Amino acid sequence: MLRTTAARHVVKVKDYDHLCVTAAQKILEISKDKITEQGRCSVVLSGGLTPQGLYASMAAAYRDQLDWKRIHFFMLDERCVSTDSPRSNYKMIELSGMPTINVHRIKTDVEDPRKAAELYEREIKDFFNLETGELPHFDLVLLGLGEDGHVASLFPGHPALKEKDSFVVAVKAAKVPEKRVTLTLSVINNAAQVIFLVSGPSKAGILKKVLLEERQSFPAAHVHPAHGELWWFIDQMAASLLRRRF
Ligand code: 6PG
Repeated sequence: MLRTTAARHVVKVKDYDHLCVTAAQKILEISKDKITEQGRCSVVLSGGLTPQGLYASMAAAYRDQLDWKRIHFFMLDERCVSTDSPRSNYKMIELSGMPTINVHRIKTDVEDPRKAAELYEREIKDFFNLETGELPHFDLVLLGLGEDGHVASLFPGHPALKEKDSFVVAVKAAKVPEKRVTLTLSVINNAAQVIFLVSGPSKAGILKKVLLEERQSFPAAHVHPAHGELWWFIDQMAASLLRRRF
């Protein structure tokens, strides 16, 4: 079921499996359009656990429909752990079966977080051939929603939420065991399409606050692509407190 307002589209589906398939179909549609239009597509992959099934759907059901050579995958954020660690977002992407040939990873396993952030920002600037001060314009950014309302590794009240000079920053937050490297809100909000993927009862409370409450300032509520479209792909368990609003 789709509900559209000026700022956003909310797609509510029955369960996690339907969420992954529906989101994979949307990614297929976006990537085909962008490859036709510009010869390539740039997609930022969220970390965490929710997108694992989506990446598996893309790698399996849509393997033959996605033009993998022309889709460049970037990472939204990464934990400062080895790529063999179960906490590694890159490892999660690899285990999903997604071809990693075009995945631009954040090298937190071999570099100091600030150096890893610097290298990754340089890699993105080269990919988009950016001028100084220019922001990358990703075709699609995938996001998860933390139970505290964080997105990427941008946690409530953290100074990184206000970062304007760089668009990749190293973050240390008390809420998480390891240092992180993350894209900033300014990059997320400069994307053509942003898709939140939210599943399960544990997200029902925060999803209601972010979608329905006016006076709240969770990081997720600051995601407003200035020139793009915002999509919320949610399953019924995550939507259980939204009543009939969606
Ligand atoms: C990360 C993600 C983070 C994640 C949320 C939701 O590296 O953990 O970027 O923002 O999307 O914490 O995580 P789950 O999908 O595991 O609930």
